[in-house]
Amino acid sequence: MINDKKVLYSGMQATGTLTLGNYLGALKNWVSISDEYECFYGVMDLHSLTIRQEPANFRKNARNLYALYVAAGLDPEKNCLYYQSHVSAHAELGWILDCFTYMGELNRMTQFKDKAAKHADNINAGLYTYPVLMAADILLYQADLVPVGVDQKQHLEICRDIAERFNNLYGEVFTIPEAYIPEAGAKIMSLQEPERKMSKSDENENATVRLLDDTDTVIRKFKRAVTDSGNEVRFSEDKPGVSNLMTIYGCVTGKTMEEIEKEFDGKGYGDFKLAVGECVADELRPLQERYYALLEDKTYIEKCIKENDEKAQYFANKTLRKVQKKVGLTERIR
Ligand code: TYM
Repeated sequence: MINDKKVLYSGMQATGTLTLGNYLGALKNWVSISDEYECFYGVMDLHSLTIRQEPANFRKNARNLYALYVAAGLDPEKNCLYYQSHVSAHAELGWILDCFTYMGELNRMTQFKDKAAKHADNINAGLYTYPVLMAADILLYQADLVPVGVDQKQHLEICRDIAERFNNLYGEVFTIPEAYIPEAGAKIMSLQEPERKMSKSDENENATVRLLDDTDTVIRKFKRAVTDSGNEVRFSEDKPGVSNLMTIYGCVTGKTMEEIEKEFDGKGYGDFKLAVGECVADELRPLQERYYALLEDKTYIEKCIKENDEKAQYFANKTLRKVQKKVGLTERIR
């Protein structure tokens, strides 16, 4: 608890431009629950290093991600929006927790297997221990709740296992976090191959809607979205393309699947796809305006980064010192 509020922790990797999946599965929900919690949101730049980054581009992406958090509605004066790499406690706790994590556990991580297959020329140790650093992120802030998309569920489970193992050995050091996975939007699928997750790194640009796509691009991508041979707007497992579009429409408008089925009863896929494209473009436009204005205001962003880095350091160091003491590392002489 901080200021009588439970603690919420989440973050995103600082690579590429966020997708509609990142937004509907995570960012939009962060904004809607941020008032109820003491919130920490990291720009997860250390995690991004598990894949080769071009330095200048990487730096720019990290700054853009920070601005997108703010533009999406996270007030940096109420939420601690900070850079993971600016709080050295993450790497330090990450190392300690590496020593409390079994290779057998890490071998089971499906995201590692997927990423290793995708980057066969760079299967580095960081990619392997990625979930342990993620556990350190969460546990440093004694988080109660971690809002994420469904692809992070396994990482949350290993985080809880590590925390419980540590607590069993040393007493109640860490709060055991709960994952918060939204009912709708937890897995937004590709617009071109609806059996696959929408992903930042998809080579087919039409598969992924990006938060900075302009209105025409958004509408064009939805018009080209893969549906099926029928013409009925109905939510069902045998209609993955249409169901994905319905999920997107529902997340943005707040309508239920039944309401959407009724709304488009007797209308074809063309009308439906246009409506989805328009509602997404309308949702993104104000966010984009705020984003471009923010990028102009370098002084404001830098002030937010500095203050929040310090706040994050304060809470993270408190937990780190406790852990160091528990495991028997020698205290510093002051
Ligand atoms: P990342 O950067 O891959 O994704 C950020 C968030 O977006 C969600 N997401 C999706 N949700 C729905 N549909 C999709 N197609 C989709 N694609 C991505 C992800 O589930 C995630 O919530 N390991 C994390 C970053 C991280 C983190 C943490 C998160 C590092 N440390 C501590 C929480 C707590 C990641 O790679 O997210």
